[in-house]
Amino acid sequence: MKIKSEDLFERVQELLLAAGESADNTKIVADSLCKADARGVTTHGTYLLTPIFDRVKVGQLALPTSVSLVIDEAAVAIVDGGNGLGPVAGNLAIETSIARARTYGISMVLIRNTNNLGSLAFYTEKIASQGMIAMMSCNAAPAMAPWGGAEAFTGTNPIAISIYTGSEMLFSADMATSVVARGKIRQAAREGKAIPADWALDADGNPTTDPAVALKGTLLPMGGPKGSALALAVDIISGILAGAEHAPNLKSFHAPEGKTGVGGALVTVDISKFMPLAEFKNSMGEYINSLKAMKKAKSASEIYLPGEIEYRREQASREAGVNLDDKAVEVLNRLLEKIGSAQRLEAIV
Ligand SMILES: NC(=O)c1ccc[n+]([C@@H]2O[C@H](COP(=O)([O-])OP(=O)(O)OC[C@H]3O[C@@H](n4cnc5c(N)ncnc54)[C@H](O)[C@@H]3O)[C@@H](O)[C@H]2O)c1
Repeated sequence: MKIKSEDLFERVQELLLAAGESADNTKIVADSLCKADARGVTTHGTYLLTPIFDRVKVGQLALPTSVSLVIDEAAVAIVDGGNGLGPVAGNLAIETSIARARTYGISMVLIRNTNNLGSLAFYTEKIASQGMIAMMSCNAAPAMAPWGGAEAFTGTNPIAISIYTGSEMLFSADMATSVVARGKIRQAAREGKAIPADWALDADGNPTTDPAVALKGTLLPMGGPKGSALALAVDIISGILAGAEHAPNLKSFHAPEGKTGVGGALVTVDISKFMPLAEFKNSMGEYINSLKAMKKAKSASEIYLPGEIEYRREQASREAGVNLDDKAVEVLNRLLEKIGSAQRLEAIV
């Protein structure tokens, strides 16, 4: 069903406030969750409100989120996320990395002691739209075996790269290092749907199409050993270097097994330190035009820029409402009922 984006944003803020988050932080977190839904990345959208409430209930999430810089030296910094909500830590990382990149041309800001950072394009796009290039990664609870292994070691450790284009639509590659994000398997399990055989292995290392069985086994890395290598590199930089937890010690955000210990890494490059921004913008315009004018594969009607599909969904959701499945809206309405709100989300008629 389609939900008016302003209504979704307001109800999500109401829920986050009730969970114990501060008024300023609720805006940041609601922005992250609603933007993910609007972009069709529902695995990292308002669906996360359920584990947020579950964690608050067992005292495994420190709200209101309190973040600070524990290392702050020229072009490098480390944000301590205070075991609160990921987007608040990510927001301080964004502000710090933009400011430092403006001074030094490049900055690297790491994050430790936070929780699920959600969809990474949320951070990298905010930076890229300022005339910059942003690269971000984060680690997550064990879900994927290293290539050749049969036990979960790394998480689905995503990587995002967003690049300024001079237009509202950025170059924005944002992906798990597994074939798909674990959330997509959880979503298939919730919806009672089978998964493709190349997404995951069961606990004995056999391919499976059953999402429930896959959740007890391991996810397959994208591109075989190459995805496995990237996931390990992400864990070393976002985990070990950041002073965060790292494989196999991270805990899932979706089960009350203790502090998750998530870490992240953000590298920001100020394009104007390398060439005039207008020159880069012109080159990017020509580059995108020539890419899109290429001869199409038989199966494709269009060549999309990375992030373009999500960008178009976001644009459409502003006009026509955010597309959420009925079950997801039911869950949000139950949470609203639980906090004693008189408000409910309703489909646009
Ligand atoms: N916080 C975490 O722990 C965590 C873990 C894993 C994933 N995630 C997030 O989950 C989200 C989804 O990840 P995913 O790997 O399932 O993404 P995906 O497979 O849906 O998309 C990956 C990338 O491919 C691009 N793409 C897809 N189809 C395309 C096409 N036809 N032409 C051109 N480009 C195309 C997308 O724009 C995107 O940049 C991301 O936002 C990621 O940050 C978060």
